[in-house]
Amino acid sequence: MSYPQPIDLVVRGGTVVNADWQGAADVLIGGGKVLGVVEPGAYRSAQPPGTTEIDASGRLVLPGGVDPHCHVGFTSGDFTSLDDYLQATTAAVFGGTTTIVDFAIPRPGENPADVAAAQRAKAEQGLCDSALHACVVEWDDTVPEQLRSLTADGIVTVKMFTTYRGETMADEKTILNVMTTLRDLGGMVVIHCEADHIIADTQERGEAAGTIGACHHADTRPELAENASVAEILAIAESVAAPVYFVHQSTPEAVDLVARARGRGVRAFTETVAHHLTLDDTAYAGPHPERFVCCPPLRDAGTVAGLRSRVLMGQVATIGSDHCCYDTAQKESVSHDVRAMPNGLPGVETRMPVVFSELVVKGGLPAGRFVEVMCANPARLNGLYPRKGVIAPGSDADLAVWDPAVTRTVRSANLHMATDYTPYEGMQITGWPETVVVGGRLVVAAGRLTAPEPLGRHLRSGPLSRSLVC
Ligand code: URP
Ligand code: ZN
Ligand code: ZN
Ligand code: ZN
Repeated sequence: MSYPQPIDLVVRGGTVVNADWQGAADVLIGGGKVLGVVEPGAYRSAQPPGTTEIDASGRLVLPGGVDPHCHVGFTSGDFTSLDDYLQATTAAVFGGTTTIVDFAIPRPGENPADVAAAQRAKAEQGLCDSALHACVVEWDDTVPEQLRSLTADGIVTVKMFTTYRGETMADEKTILNVMTTLRDLGGMVVIHCEADHIIADTQERGEAAGTIGACHHADTRPELAENASVAEILAIAESVAAPVYFVHQSTPEAVDLVARARGRGVRAFTETVAHHLTLDDTAYAGPHPERFVCCPPLRDAGTVAGLRSRVLMGQVATIGSDHCCYDTAQKESVSHDVRAMPNGLPGVETRMPVVFSELVVKGGLPAGRFVEVMCANPARLNGLYPRKGVIAPGSDADLAVWDPAVTRTVRSANLHMATDYTPYEGMQITGWPETVVVGGRLVVAAGRLTAPEPLGRHLRSGPLSRSLVC
């Protein structure tokens, strides 16, 4: 068998797990690409002497994770999260994620295309590749042309918000206009849904009652606000036959609304995030409630169980991190009033291990389905598949050799994110990446960074197919 490139790395003896196939195989790598996925040992005749080998026996060989929702150096209100591309992607690869999708979110008065161009230029500071979601807040005559040039330049997804009034919230007509425009350009709105008027009212009542601090966060953003907003946005998408992707859905009712819409032929997709599947609102009664302030908030244990069941039922397309790297001091400085707080939790490094441990090892999610929601579907829904999200000839040689049996206790001190805490402190985890390959380079081995040079690329996403299904 001849290959288009010389083989320079072989991952030998493992069980390759793709979303749709798994089995014992050796992975042949050359020129930064996967050259072949072959019968164990079959490559030896084609292998030049001196080829580097990684022994993956007893391990799973997974496509590198694709985190569809990761904020890097994100400014919101008075706060900027603490990482840059090198720090965020270093943490990502230690956790088995080899592609992140970041956001270019305009501040009031900024232009979405300019903000995206500035953010895109940072990709080369990354240890792994990245793509971007743009963001539109207000509609004006320039937006259609900005969306045309963004999609032509490979940024095909646009984040919108139904909350954060005065910052990033868009009105319904703007959402409808952006959905319609992107529909015709092969793009898609990715949307944060919480009905802002309900939250504003709940928060006003919380202020009057003296219950507006971080320990009351869950009460200030009720589930029904999320469910109502999802229903409205689905109606808009259905009315204009546009695809729509719901970020960080945190309630089973919201996921069910999307699943029912899919049954009617709407191209609608659910993303959940690791912390909504693995943590609950008892965290707000603990010693550091502010560390868990994110939007939507952590929900009660019954809701978490319902959300997990939706993953097992196959109704969830992707699981992201919604990584936001604030530290305790930033969060504590305004924890008396959740309306002023920096929202979001650090999680790009822990996304894959925590979800593997909680949903595969403890929850019975098949490993192939784990790969589907963590790698393949995030790549598909961001126009990056099959370059990313699968181990197959021609795909980028990004993969994680995963020890499915190793047990660790999560400690912030052992992680690489640019913050002083993890919401999973003390959690027992089974399964962790042992070796991580990025673009054919051995980047993490035996818990150490072996290739620190930032060679990240900004990925141009392909247009999303009109028949997109996950
Ligand atoms: O709490 C969150 N999710 N913060 C990040 C911004 C967003 O809404 O995704
Ligand atoms: Zn959001
Ligand atoms: Zn505290
Ligand atoms: Zn987010």
